[in-house]
Amino acid sequence: MPEANGTEAEWFERDAPFRLVSASGVMAGAMSLNRLPLAQLEAQADEVLSPLEAARLTDRLAPRRRHSFLAGRRAAKQALRHLLPSAAARDFHVLPGVLEQPVVSGPGVSNLQVTLSHTGTLAVALAHPEACPMGVDLEQLSPEHRPVLREQAGAREQALAMTALDLDEDRRLLLLWCLKEALSKALRCGLTVPFDLLEVATLDPAPSGARARFSNFGQYEGFAFCRGDLCLAAVLPHTVQWLGANGTEPVTTLAAWLGAAAPAA
Ligand SMILES: CC(C)(COP(=O)(O)OP(=O)(O)OC[C@H]1O[C@@H](n2cnc3c(N)ncnc32)[C@H](O)[C@@H]1OP(=O)(O)O)[C@@H](O)C(=O)NCCC(=O)NCCS
Repeated sequence: MPEANGTEAEWFERDAPFRLVSASGVMAGAMSLNRLPLAQLEAQADEVLSPLEAARLTDRLAPRRRHSFLAGRRAAKQALRHLLPSAAARDFHVLPGVLEQPVVSGPGVSNLQVTLSHTGTLAVALAHPEACPMGVDLEQLSPEHRPVLREQAGAREQALAMTALDLDEDRRLLLLWCLKEALSKALRCGLTVPFDLLEVATLDPAPSGARARFSNFGQYEGFAFCRGDLCLAAVLPHTVQWLGANGTEPVTTLAAWLGAAAPAA
């Protein structure tokens, strides 16, 4: 990961609420994306991390590990703060569960979860009710990953991506990877399962990128897009409508944020 060496004007932090509309009602969620210098994340860590989270920072000495932990927790707290408006960020925790999945806990917290991802100096988080599982993945293009991405994308998926996406091969492969990793987070298994299980079954162009369904998890739908060298995917149950608070679709908002954060990432 490159050191955070941009100018202040290049740093970026946004958050926004969203709604999850299902047949049984409307649920609240929120999202956040940041790209902040490590010095700022460190300086504000006391306001963001709970004591239990801060304890997990003490064994992360490398700047890269500190940055991803602090940026990820900050994105999670910024998103969760929309759903816990009366709590201070340091009063609740995002701690790893037994599968390393992030688990939200603390006084007054119930039915709340978060999914998060970091790459380079960027971090993204989606806070959501436990009732509506979500997964997110954010990746930066890196030519040395090409062989692995090729190996992990089936011939059918690659053909789908070629038809549906106006992207070069590296970005098509990365987008497929992101969709599958985001699905694995929604399922809480992470990439511990055979990649074939997470296969993308359909891929259709959508206003900001692409919309996907999965061969073995028909309950879920994925949204993914690339901006510059970055790719982001989010997965949620396909029966749920993911709507922005102000009428703009969350995917469109996230794509705009990523576009704004991308050039200097
Ligand atoms: C989840 C996983 C795909 C993330 O990979 P990655 O591309 O390196 O990292 P990302 O930045 O996109 O995502 C990391 C976040 O995923 C989340 N995560 C980790 N395991 C998860 C799981 N089982 N389910 C859902 N989310 C998970 C965490 O919040 C983590 O961030 P944090 O450690 O700061 O809390 C990968 O770590 C994995 O497969 N983990 C499975 C669990 C595992 O094998 N644990 C032992 C590791 S030796």
